[in-house]
Amino acid sequence: MSSHGAPIPMTSTACGPLTGRAEVPGDKSISHRSLILGALSIGETKISGLLEGQDVLDTAKAMRAFGAEVTDHGGGNWSVHGVGVGGFAEPDQVIDCGNSGTGVRLIMGAMATSPITATFTGDASLNGRPMARVTDPLSLFGCEAVGREGGRLPMTLVGASQPVPVNYVVPVPSAQVKSAVLLAGLNAPGKTIVIEAEATRDHTERMLAGFGAEITTEIADAGRVITLTGQPELTAQTIDVPRDPSSAAFPVCAALIVPGSDVLVPGIGLNPTRAGLYTTLRDMGADLTYENERVEGGEPVADLRARFSPDMVGITVPPERAASMIDEYPMLSVVAAFAKGDTHMPGVRELRVKESDRIDAMATGLRDNGITVKDGEDWWTVTGLGHGNVPGGALCVSHLDHRIAMSFMVLGMATNAPVRLDDGGPIATSFPIFEGLMADLGAQVTRDPA
Ligand code: S3P
Repeated sequence: MSSHGAPIPMTSTACGPLTGRAEVPGDKSISHRSLILGALSIGETKISGLLEGQDVLDTAKAMRAFGAEVTDHGGGNWSVHGVGVGGFAEPDQVIDCGNSGTGVRLIMGAMATSPITATFTGDASLNGRPMARVTDPLSLFGCEAVGREGGRLPMTLVGASQPVPVNYVVPVPSAQVKSAVLLAGLNAPGKTIVIEAEATRDHTERMLAGFGAEITTEIADAGRVITLTGQPELTAQTIDVPRDPSSAAFPVCAALIVPGSDVLVPGIGLNPTRAGLYTTLRDMGADLTYENERVEGGEPVADLRARFSPDMVGITVPPERAASMIDEYPMLSVVAAFAKGDTHMPGVRELRVKESDRIDAMATGLRDNGITVKDGEDWWTVTGLGHGNVPGGALCVSHLDHRIAMSFMVLGMATNAPVRLDDGGPIATSFPIFEGLMADLGAQVTRDPA
């Protein structure tokens, strides 16, 4: 089942060269944060290039439920009239975050230090994911959470009426956990300190500074020490959301594996905490160049140019790079099938608790399509067959996971037999224009009768 309707079966068939420009939508992480920080500010935050995927639309709806005025002006232009730090109203309905772990975890953090109660739920995927990683640190502020067995949604949070600041070492490499703690720290008096051993995406820190919070990051032996001074007045901002490097991964990787391709993917945010896939692809010998490198809104940005790369080789992806490409391993595993030799991906335990168990979902589908994959709890290895040698022909399962669905559709663009998918519905959570954009490049992804 799709998260928001009947299943949408799809088939991807080998195609001619992919060519042209691929204008991918706005960054999902920055889009969520723009709405949430806008809601916690005083004044009108103006956002352009907002990702209008279902995940972000669910966060917009949630911000309205907490009292912010969120307006869609069309064409990716949105505005948010915020209620200020500590100004959230108590929602009079259950907050449904759909498929979005980022949405629910960040919103939980944002409300945890206000004296209000809110109940959260999501789709079958989100309701199966661990929330204790967020509610444990939020309880240190004085917030109480009651959920299902194993700390799962649906879950009710009672925000702290007299929050205290927190000093927290994040036990897993997770930007969502880090961000939830920082957003909770906004309404606690004094300094909240978050320490992360491995650097994860730093959009929350950058954006909090941009909205006027006092926030510093120091590199120490323990890792990155982030210190936030609580109870600032956040000031509304104008935000131009950069295009999403995680969405760009699909047209880029498709171009690398489809013979004759040459695709330009303009304006992609290459924040080092996000760009690990592109470094990895270049390490594998991909013909991938950064053109027109520039800085926009404080973030490094480039136009990515990807051309067919028949001579890619398997590598061991450094585990310390994992956090900077955590959402891209499903797509990488497909590229690895077309490279020569083994691509070994260690240090990726977190893949097991995403929208699906991404190692299991990809390994199963790749094996069904004739590719050898070995896996353990926190690693997997794909044995590449080289161009023209990947069989395909199987029906893959998307498990309510947009990135799994798109990865298998890219696989089918270069396999010997078409690849089918049980449900492409989840693609709309992060990349609603995927089918049209890929078709414009020359891909053959079709919807099948349900
Ligand atoms: C995200 C953080 C990552 C990532 C997710 C978006 C964010 O999750 O997988 O798609 O915007 O903070 P984790 O924090 O669980 O690693």
